[in-house]
Amino acid sequence: MSRHRIAAVSDIPPGAGREFVAGGKIVAVFNVEGAFHALDGICPHAGGPIAKGVVTGQVVTCPWHGWQFDVASGHHCLNTQLKQPCFPVTVEDDSIWIELPTG
Ligand code: FES
Repeated sequence: MSRHRIAAVSDIPPGAGREFVAGGKIVAVFNVEGAFHALDGICPHAGGPIAKGVVTGQVVTCPWHGWQFDVASGHHCLNTQLKQPCFPVTVEDDSIWIELPTG
């Protein structure tokens, strides 16, 4: 695992998602009522930018064709066999950190 500081807490307001590049990956980070969640930012359907989707509760809707994912678990909302990779998030002081797999 490699650890990356990706943003300040104030960079991602509650109810929002933001896209970052960390460790050569595009990562989508969401703030759900103060709890941060990180997913692989590339939609598995056709490569859409998940971070740019509308967030309702803890569900994000991909802006390209509407696939929906639970941002906490990564599960697709209709097809639970489909799971978007999730990454551990920690908050220290004012910084958001994520852990990414290496290799
Ligand atoms: S690319 Fe995300 S729903 Fe199609």
